[in-house]
Amino acid sequence: MKAKFSSKIGIVAATVGSAVGLGNVWRFPAEVQENGGAAFLLVYIACVFLLGIPVMLSEFSLGREGGADAVGTFRKLSPGRPWWLTGLLGVLASYMILCFYMVVAGWTFEYMIQSVTGNLYAPVDGMDAAGGFTTRMQQYIEGDIAPLIYTFIMIALNLAILLGGVQKGIERISNVLMPILFLLLVIFCCVSLSLPGASGGLKYFFSPDFSKITPTVIINALGQAFFSLSLGMGVLITYASYFPSSAKLTKTAFTVSVLDLLVALMMGIIIFPAVVSFGLEGESLRGLTLVFVTLPEVFNRMELTELWSALFFFTLSVAAITSTISIAEVSVAFFQDRFKMSRVKACLSVLLPTVLFSTMCSMSLSSDSSLTIGGKTLFDFLDMVATNIMLPVGSLLMCIYAGWVAPRSLMIRQFTNDGTLRGHLSGFIMFCIKYVAPPAIIAIFVTTFL
Ligand code: PFF
Repeated sequence: MKAKFSSKIGIVAATVGSAVGLGNVWRFPAEVQENGGAAFLLVYIACVFLLGIPVMLSEFSLGREGGADAVGTFRKLSPGRPWWLTGLLGVLASYMILCFYMVVAGWTFEYMIQSVTGNLYAPVDGMDAAGGFTTRMQQYIEGDIAPLIYTFIMIALNLAILLGGVQKGIERISNVLMPILFLLLVIFCCVSLSLPGASGGLKYFFSPDFSKITPTVIINALGQAFFSLSLGMGVLITYASYFPSSAKLTKTAFTVSVLDLLVALMMGIIIFPAVVSFGLEGESLRGLTLVFVTLPEVFNRMELTELWSALFFFTLSVAAITSTISIAEVSVAFFQDRFKMSRVKACLSVLLPTVLFSTMCSMSLSSDSSLTIGGKTLFDFLDMVATNIMLPVGSLLMCIYAGWVAPRSLMIRQFTNDGTLRGHLSGFIMFCIKYVAPPAIIAIFVTTFL
């Protein structure tokens, strides 16, 4: 019998678990900082509501109707037609993301352990720890063995959870970890807001300068929204195939998107006031190093340095793990459904090769590595191709399928649980799926690449 999530809470916890991840805690603040602060935030919020929720509902509806993995769903809904390739694109994109995401997940774990042992805050190369965090990050990330070991630990944890299956693995761990994650984030918000001069950071994050909205800012916001909501790569099709028939899709999509946005906002509220309060804006706000360099500098200036730091990187590790299991589950479900593999075999077939590919991604980051493609490290190449190209293309195809190919009655039936719910938003959602999302994704693509 097809595995299902067993409760409403489990559905939301698992799906929020997938959505809330390094995308929110690591990528989002960096994107805000690189794309003009609050102006980016506004565009991001618009993308979540106008494009993210409709695409999420498309995936939910197709997944629950098909009741199979991403490829199998399209095969079932459109037999004999090439739409299954959309599912395959999702499987491939998610696997590419898995390989580099696992490496970053390893860093978060490494930072947690190094905070507990106090090593992160010990002097570096004769220097005081303060100011040495860039060096430290380079040591941790470009090191030969340590980053690999932590990445392997993350892969092993994923394996352990995924072997437990849908209910006893994914659902159970999400039910436990997600409340902890929210609680820790609330504590961090309070700590950050109580720092002297916190309001400067809030102003940066919340008062937009509209002149900063450019096409690049818009495409980045769209890419970030889709990445953060786990869209366009079959994760939500796969998870929705585990939704029972009583699950309310519209409500779930709305709840998940709002909670995901809330976490992104909380991260902004945590990071920017802290950075401003300690005078680390400007040079120290360096994109993706924000979390691994700037925040340790912040913790270093606070009381109870190691405790806050360990708790923070624990939070990040939790966020990472509930996302990696969802990314890996796309391929696990694909192997199970397509090749009729047992769960154990499918999990091993997905995660064992990840050991090799993640190792290559990690090694590509060291300065003398030859693992580059077109001048980019393998790590950056996978991120760029999967996140900026495959993910929007996958989302576009899913929207076109849900809006123009699948019968409207199928979609409405899914939104309203066979007519038992009122579904007064159905018309508006279908309008967004058909007429708003596809042109918006195409327009943004064209502006960026032409
Ligand atoms: N949504 C996750 C995050 O924000 O970190 C990342 C992610 C999960 C991306 C699943 C894509 C995906 F299919």
